[in-house]
Amino acid sequence: MEREQLNKRFGLPGVVAFGAGPGGLTQATITTAGGTATVLLHGAHVTGYRPTGQEPVLWMSEGSWFAPGKPVRGGVPVCFPWFGSTGPAADSPHHGFARLVQWRVESVRGDADQATIVLTIASDDHTRQLWPREFELRHTVTVGEALSMSLDVRNTGAEAFTITEALHSYFAVSDIRDVAVTGLEGAEYIDTVGEATRLRQGDGPIRFESETDRAYVNTGAPCVLDDPGMGRRITVAKSGSLSTVVWNPWSAKAARMPDYGGDEWPGMVCIETANIHDNAVNVAPGEAHTMDARIRVG
Ligand code: BG6
Repeated sequence: MEREQLNKRFGLPGVVAFGAGPGGLTQATITTAGGTATVLLHGAHVTGYRPTGQEPVLWMSEGSWFAPGKPVRGGVPVCFPWFGSTGPAADSPHHGFARLVQWRVESVRGDADQATIVLTIASDDHTRQLWPREFELRHTVTVGEALSMSLDVRNTGAEAFTITEALHSYFAVSDIRDVAVTGLEGAEYIDTVGEATRLRQGDGPIRFESETDRAYVNTGAPCVLDDPGMGRRITVAKSGSLSTVVWNPWSAKAARMPDYGGDEWPGMVCIETANIHDNAVNVAPGEAHTMDARIRVG
């Protein structure tokens, strides 16, 4: 649908407007009393969120691509129907196809305090080539004093399927070496730097001294990102999610990524609301599964 039509059908004057975003991709700009956000129809990708009176919460790489068929480096990529390189074929796209395709606007609602956009995709010839399953996927993004995201998958086929998924949230930090993440104390995780190893988090917070890539499993706990340098705490609460990925590529891996700006790695950390590894989700025919993340400062 053209931007003009999108604005006519779904625009909320002063609150939700559709226009050209980076790379000419269609973007919804959501402006409420509690905060503002930008959401691309490409990938249903939240590219920015800023609570009123605060610094931006989400990180976006200066080297990011903004092009059809390419992932965006930053914000909140939607990883579905698989996480990482666990797709059905050797050349299955990393983190699934949901972040690479154009989504449709289903509805917009709200008022000056808080607004919600619902984006959707469903199985089609393109997705069936990558993953022969019948599904509907809905991403509901609510912007206000918090940023809430809800990823809902429905099995519209005759056979059960199994998915892994993530709301791969990139947070802006003062310096990765000075921040701490709490909430995962005692949780089991798969450390995927080098050979995958199962370990257990100790009693203390997570601190960062080198490349960190961990999939915490069997945990529904909220996390708090404590950033004394920025003088803020970000809380990531969730439901329908039993995995949390914590990631920073550090210097060497960042330098190998073509869509990642030079020395940006100290300024970000990912805390991803997910269902992966032990927590893959089986969805029976006619059934649905919902995973929610709620991000707020404080
Ligand atoms: C993280 C993974 O979730 O995503 C990392 O744990 C991976 O291993 C990172 O490097 C980025 O993936 P991509 O496909 O966006 O480059």
